[in-house]
Amino acid sequence: MIILKSPDEIEKMREASLIVADVLDEIEKLIEPGITTEELDRFSENLIMKRGARPAFLGYLGYPKTLCTSINEQVVHGIPGPTKLKEGDIIGVDCGALLNGYFGDSARTYPVGRISDEASRLLCVTKEALFKGIKEMKEGNRLHDISAAIQNHVESAGFSVVRQFVGHGIGKKMHEPPSVPNYGTPHTGPLLEKGLVLALEPMVNAGDYNIEILDDGWTAVSKDRSLSAHFEHTVALTDQGYDILSLRM
Ligand code: MF3
Ligand code: CO
Repeated sequence: MIILKSPDEIEKMREASLIVADVLDEIEKLIEPGITTEELDRFSENLIMKRGARPAFLGYLGYPKTLCTSINEQVVHGIPGPTKLKEGDIIGVDCGALLNGYFGDSARTYPVGRISDEASRLLCVTKEALFKGIKEMKEGNRLHDISAAIQNHVESAGFSVVRQFVGHGIGKKMHEPPSVPNYGTPHTGPLLEKGLVLALEPMVNAGDYNIEILDDGWTAVSKDRSLSAHFEHTVALTDQGYDILSLRM
C-alpha cells in the first residue's frame, strides 16, 4: 500500500531532506586526496545532530555508520573507515536524516581531484539519468515510466543499470512501498498520484550490471570491478508537478 502524503507532511519531509542536502554540500568541500571516509562520517553525524535530527542509517538493520561511502567499483553501502581518498577516485556518499518523524534520503557521487574521462562521463550520465526519472514524476504517468526513462538514458550511454537495488517510497519509514526499479517497461506499474514521495536512486555500472556483496556483509561492488556511480533525491509529486525535496534552491 502506497502512503500518500499531505502538503504538511511534504514540508516536514523537505526539512529532513534539506539537512541531508546541506551535509552533501559540505562534504563536497571536504573531499580531497588524503581525507578518510571515517572523517566524512564523523563530520556528517555532528552536522545532523546539531540540526536536531538523527542519522537515518545508523543502527538501521545493524548498519554501523551515518553515511554510506562507496569508492570506485563499490556500488552502494560502503562502510566509512580509515581508507584515505586518493586523486582520481570517485566516491558515492549516501545520507539519510530523520526529523520530526519523517525521513529524507539523498546521495551524490563526487570526483576526487582529477578523474578519467570515463569516470567523469559515468558521473554525468548517472546524474542525468536521475533527472530523466524525476521528469517522469507527473500525474497520469505510471511508476515504470520513471524506471524506463532512467534505463534508457543509461543504456544509450553504453552503461548498465544495477538490478539488485532499487529506489523506494519514503515517509515515516525510510523504505515504504513502492519499490522503484531503475529499469522497466513504460506505461506499467501503479499510477502516479499527488502526495506520492519517492527516493529515486539510479546505481550505474560502467561495465556489467551484476554485483556482489563483500565479506563485511554490506559493501556492494560491481562483479567485474568496473566503476559505479549513484545519485539519489527524495522527490514529491504535488499539484505543481515534481518537487525535489533534497535540493536547496
Ligand atoms: N539510500 C539507501 C537506501 O535507500 C541507504 C540505506 S543504507 C543502510 O536504501 F545502511 F541504511 F541500509
Ligand atoms: Co534510498
